[in-house]
Amino acid sequence: MKDVIIACDFSSQEELFEFLRPFEGYDPYLKIGMELFYKEGPGLVKKLKEMGFKIFLDLKLHDIPNTVEKAMRNIGELGVEITNLHAAGGIKMMEAARRGLDASENGKKTRLIAVTQLTSTSQEILEKELLIEKPMSEVVKKYAQNAKQAGLDGVVCSPLEAPLINELGLISVTPGIRFASDDANDQKRIATPSYAKELGSTYIVVGRSITEATNPLEAYLRCKKEFN
Ligand code: C5P
Repeated sequence: MKDVIIACDFSSQEELFEFLRPFEGYDPYLKIGMELFYKEGPGLVKKLKEMGFKIFLDLKLHDIPNTVEKAMRNIGELGVEITNLHAAGGIKMMEAARRGLDASENGKKTRLIAVTQLTSTSQEILEKELLIEKPMSEVVKKYAQNAKQAGLDGVVCSPLEAPLINELGLISVTPGIRFASDDANDQKRIATPSYAKELGSTYIVVGRSITEATNPLEAYLRCKKEFN
């Protein structure tokens, strides 16, 4: 099950298909996020599914339970492998999301995971902006326990938190991946692919280290080699 997921943060499907050209025959697992989804809509996801790609649809829902349930029913129709929401929305919202997916034929198999804290959030942001005084690891653990209680499959978290997530019996999908030589950009809690493997990440999500590499296919294969 372990795999590398490419974060396809492109502004249009033309850019995405241009990027994917050298990947023919490699069938990479793709993460489609807000940027592309809000530009191209569900049609792009349907097209990629028809082309045989495995998709993690990263829309991070966070709203009242009723709204999230109905939105998830629509996401379920797309038959994506993984989708997500913010654990900060609470247990009732997460349960409603699962119900929404289960209500659509294609959504029953979609794995639902929760964002605990964004990997761009530091302990300082947690305390000074969000007024959460507990240590990051405690917050992540509590949100993950809530996700488990709501019947979710796993969480999105930093690779540094993967061991604690695995202990709970959840899958860990971990962005914040950089090669040792890369720039961290806006990410705060990062790891290399081999360190993420050591820490037990189930899936690593890699964006700019692949998409902005001089040779993206080579960077992807290097990630796969280090991680698998
Ligand atoms: O370019 P980079 O590797 O930093 O991309 C990471 C991807 O993972 C982005 O698409 C970002 O939205 C996503 N993500 C994240 N932290 C989370 C959840 C998702 O960085 N907690």
